[in-house]
Amino acid sequence: MTQGIGIAGITRLVGNTPLLRVRLFEREHPNVEVYAKAEWFNPGGSVKDRAALSMIEDGERRGALTRDKTIIDSTSGNTGIAYALIGAAKGYRVKLVMPKNVSTERKALVTAYGAEIVYSDAGEGSDGAIRLVRELVAKEPDLYFYPDQYSNPANVRAHYEGTAVEILEQTSGRITHFVAGLGTTGTFVGTSKRLKEHDPSIHTVAVQPEDAFHGLEGLKHLPTAIVPRIWDPSVADEVWGAPTEPAYDLARTIAAREGLLVGHSSGAALWAVGKLAATIREGVVVTVFPDSGDRYLSMGLYGRPVK
Ligand SMILES: Cc1ncc(COP(=O)(O)O)c(C=O)c1O
Repeated sequence: MTQGIGIAGITRLVGNTPLLRVRLFEREHPNVEVYAKAEWFNPGGSVKDRAALSMIEDGERRGALTRDKTIIDSTSGNTGIAYALIGAAKGYRVKLVMPKNVSTERKALVTAYGAEIVYSDAGEGSDGAIRLVRELVAKEPDLYFYPDQYSNPANVRAHYEGTAVEILEQTSGRITHFVAGLGTTGTFVGTSKRLKEHDPSIHTVAVQPEDAFHGLEGLKHLPTAIVPRIWDPSVADEVWGAPTEPAYDLARTIAAREGLLVGHSSGAALWAVGKLAATIREGVVVTVFPDSGDRYLSMGLYGRPVK
């Protein structure tokens, strides 16, 4: 297949993100080293570039994604941006179903990459978007390539073959604890599985919102949500519920104190890292910062003073 330089170029920038040192908990817990994968360094600005590229290329290999198909999926935003960017780079049409209340920046980005948006009921959240995309695909199955990020093993594989291997290399295998948020659960499941195969003593903590009504875009409260088919509780040593406001506070704090402008789900991960650091005496903790705070500026959360 002939590919233009641009086509090969942008998708090759997915993955291999920097691992950053986080100093926030150092004074209180000097023997706990904390690092975070800076996933906003992906070309689409989030961790979801990894999953989207993996699922699209898997579809191409299996022959399920052909030139005449439109890529369709439900997405809270970041996966949509990733599909839209990769679809534009590879020459596919992209249709995205998302709850009406996702942030203005996300809608604008997706539109900029030429994708079409179908809005689902804001009150029904990401589950409403899942139900609507299933209806659309059932009506016209031949029109679409539906990766279904919640059920697709290629989502998990992106992290099993990418994120986890990078973390092992970047820490020279010193990682003792892994902490990550749960959305589709792909990041947590794929990374944890590989880490535990490498060293079964690596302790894993999954982070979900504390309750059903939360402000942590991108994360899912599993007890009250449609549970993703790829979720594998056997790789989670613990599942913790993060409260929204303290997660926002930590996202603001790390921007102002360390120059890391991260999104809210990174704040939730930081909340769990802080709790973990207080219970272990020493260790090398690695977490994932899924996206940047500039995706949420219009929500006004970063303007408040840091406590
Ligand atoms: C901002 C943000 N954080 C975390 C996640 C969770 O990642 P995963 O879907 O791999 O569980 C997502 C995924 O949608 C996200 O958009």
